[in-house]
Amino acid sequence: MIRGVPYEVKTFLFPGSFDPFSLGHRDIAKRAADLCDRLVVAVLNNRGKSPVFSLQERVEMANQSLSGVPGVEVISYVGLLVDLYRNVDAAAVVRGLRAESDFRIEAEMAAANKLLNPDYEVILLPSSADMVFISSSTIKEVAFFGGDVSKMVCPQIAEFVKAKISERKA
Ligand code: PNS
Repeated sequence: MIRGVPYEVKTFLFPGSFDPFSLGHRDIAKRAADLCDRLVVAVLNNRGKSPVFSLQERVEMANQSLSGVPGVEVISYVGLLVDLYRNVDAAAVVRGLRAESDFRIEAEMAAANKLLNPDYEVILLPSSADMVFISSSTIKEVAFFGGDVSKMVCPQIAEFVKAKISERKA
């Protein structure tokens, strides 16, 4: 209860394939965590993409990248986002927007999810200017050709990302 007003824990849900978790994802998660009481970062499968990292590895990378950020928990989920939305009692889903092209995808996804659950809401946070060019696919491409990914992922996971990608090259 805050000054006579009953207080409900506000949970936001930040879903993604996080293959791998980038500094851009960290930026969105930190900013979203400041806007709610509890941020659930959910590693899901995008059936349009074949992940390089396993679900467990993606959870581990997200956990390491978000260590020290208060109010955040990382989970994995296999199933529909709208079901998870209900399960965690989310007030909104948070997604990052890098470019106009992202908006079209997000608008379509939001409309489909709202059809499945009319209570579904989305908050789109524009990427910070220095994160606009960071994407998981760029990270994989740069790592594949032996480039430096240290400005794209957290230092805690940079070596693991490089090692995993070069393992696939062999
Ligand atoms: O990081 P991504 O790949 O853009 O994330 C997309 C993701 C994982 C959030 C989306 O594919 C998803 O919600 N997957 C779970 C299955 C689902 O609910 N699909 C219907 C979405 S319209």
